[in-house]
Amino acid sequence: MSRRVYLDHNASTPVHPEVLAEMLPYFGEVYGNPSSIHAFGREAREGMDQARERVASFLNVSSQEIVFTSGGTESDNFALKGLAGARGKGHIITSQVEHHAVLRAARALEAQGFDLTCVGVDEFGIVDPDDVRRAIRPDTVAISIMHANSEVGTLQPIEAIGRIARERGIPFHVDAVQTLGKLPLDVNALGIDVLSFSAHKIYGPKGAAGIFIRKGTKMVAVQHGGEHERRRRAGTENVAGIVGLGKAVELRGREMHAEAPRVAALRDRLWEGVRARVPEVRLSGHPTQRLPGTASLLFRHVESESIVLGLDLKGIGVSAGSACTSGNVEPSHVLVAMGVTLDWAMGAVRCSLGRSTSAEDIDYVVECVEPLVRKLRQAMPVGAA
Ligand SMILES: Cc1ncc(COP(=O)(O)O)c(C=O)c1O
Repeated sequence: MSRRVYLDHNASTPVHPEVLAEMLPYFGEVYGNPSSIHAFGREAREGMDQARERVASFLNVSSQEIVFTSGGTESDNFALKGLAGARGKGHIITSQVEHHAVLRAARALEAQGFDLTCVGVDEFGIVDPDDVRRAIRPDTVAISIMHANSEVGTLQPIEAIGRIARERGIPFHVDAVQTLGKLPLDVNALGIDVLSFSAHKIYGPKGAAGIFIRKGTKMVAVQHGGEHERRRRAGTENVAGIVGLGKAVELRGREMHAEAPRVAALRDRLWEGVRARVPEVRLSGHPTQRLPGTASLLFRHVESESIVLGLDLKGIGVSAGSACTSGNVEPSHVLVAMGVTLDWAMGAVRCSLGRSTSAEDIDYVVECVEPLVRKLRQAMPVGAA
């Protein structure tokens, strides 16, 4: 079989074999509804309880503060709409570089009458905590800032923002979908009240995720129905997925410390290799305050989609940092907020590495990128004067 290299771990990851092994019984012999009080139900409930304990222990919180959801998107929507709904009206602070799950939930609340401030970022994609401080109003009901940016990998100064939120008594939500399981995360030390995370970014299944809600944080339910999840989120739980999430988090607790420097070294090998061979290329995001495995490369005067498709033909999976909306290719909102000009932003390619990435994979990608970009620039120089 021809070579295949997956460098899109920020989009999703393969399920870890140990995670799959723990999930399998919940598709077979353990099929009860976890809300049922008979033995069939209790067995399912035990699997879920263990998963809750595992997540809580990773975050250094109580298991009663963990609510399971269907994805990072639901967790983000729940966080914003739940916090806003508890107050009914007021002002929300977020940043211009959030995932759309936060930004569009915030815009939906704005359409309902909430005021919204989206603070900007510097050239590295970092939010200035003083901008958050200055944006606070007497009626601010929530601050939502992501931990790591999914596109460029920049880490935000969460501890400093958490301190400001705490001083002012404002609930602080953090989208940690790209960091839980990749970096240590102590919500108490960081002053976080609400935290979103998702299994499929950390070798768990898709459609299983969660939200930490600090005891005493006022939040309304967004999904109504039965009495599940201590009445915070109605709906029969995705037991197998939740068991997988718990196992994935537990495994990450053991593996991430050794993996982070290994993956960071491979990311540097990728960047150094590309930089040495390809002219007019930049690494976006912060040089040091960044996720270990994310490299967002900006190729000037090339269309990112063309690079993604060209690499796909070589068996390499990466993602474009631009989005195609109704036929028009638009630059990423993150790069635009960072002040990256169009000639660079249109050629953004995100490579995100993971636990199976090897040095040979990286060398193969570097080998394929150089002739591809050269060919594309010759054929169709995008935005060249
Ligand atoms: C930062 C961030 N937040 C939220 C999400 C949405 O998570 P999910 O795919 O589990 O809905 C993603 C997924 O890419 C993400 O990167």
